[in-house]
Amino acid sequence: MFKKTSLAAGVAAFATILFAGGCAFAEADKSGQVDYTAMTPHELAEYLIFEANDGGGFNLAQEMQEGGTARDRMQQDELQKACSIIGDGKPDEETMAAIRTAAQESIVYPEGGIQLGNWERGRELAWSGFGYRVGHNYDDHNVREVGGTCYNCHQFATDRTGGNVGPVLTGYGKMRGTSEPILKYVYDMIYNPHVYFPCTHMPRFGSSGFLDKESIADIMAYMFDPESPVNE
Ligand code: HEC
Repeated sequence: MFKKTSLAAGVAAFATILFAGGCAFAEADKSGQVDYTAMTPHELAEYLIFEANDGGGFNLAQEMQEGGTARDRMQQDELQKACSIIGDGKPDEETMAAIRTAAQESIVYPEGGIQLGNWERGRELAWSGFGYRVGHNYDDHNVREVGGTCYNCHQFATDRTGGNVGPVLTGYGKMRGTSEPILKYVYDMIYNPHVYFPCTHMPRFGSSGFLDKESIADIMAYMFDPESPVNE
């Protein structure tokens, strides 16, 4: 049965969605009818995602590309738990320091140092939202490679419209140069941004296993190569 938590808005509300096991409030009465009007908008959203249509709306038994089921993926890991807190949304200093350390330890650097790859492939990957998606259909990784979804949150080149969740990265290589510390910083940001921004909304592309080192090198080339439209 659904265990009601006291978590409130924002990230915390999202956590509530993640932990909902079943919905007491969505229980049908004897006639089999569900009283939608008795639900808050939040409860209704939760019901529609997890319960309605015998789970047919969102198939949580579905197997995931990384192993396990979609329901397993709804379980927060330690970092997500630490970051899903009430109040101003930031854990205390000690927790933040621990998050940075754990993030740094998760980063694996390429042998022979950080290199830039192929910016054209990097552009495709920065655009692409393909891979590891939960839904009615399965993203078949044999058909298409996993993308970085970078444009969902960032603007890079001006030939395509990007999102504004993250900062604008237009002209990045031209402005920052390609010194070793800058390349390391961006590699770290893509691999696990919690090193620099504990509890950031940017995904951990490297430590989550979504992007391999070659894909990271290509996306970095898209950001730094003088030929790339990002640096026009
Ligand atoms: C879900 C949104 C989201 C996605 C997807 C995302 N980012 Fe970010 N990114 C952010 C946010 C937010 C920040 C700012 C850090 C903060 O305040 O948390 C950021 C910061 C950065 C920075 C540091 C910017 C600076 O000023 O130095 C880089 C570099 C970066 N992102 C690259 C990428 C790349 C490359 C991808 C795709 C592989 C990507 N991001 C995908 C949200 C996102």
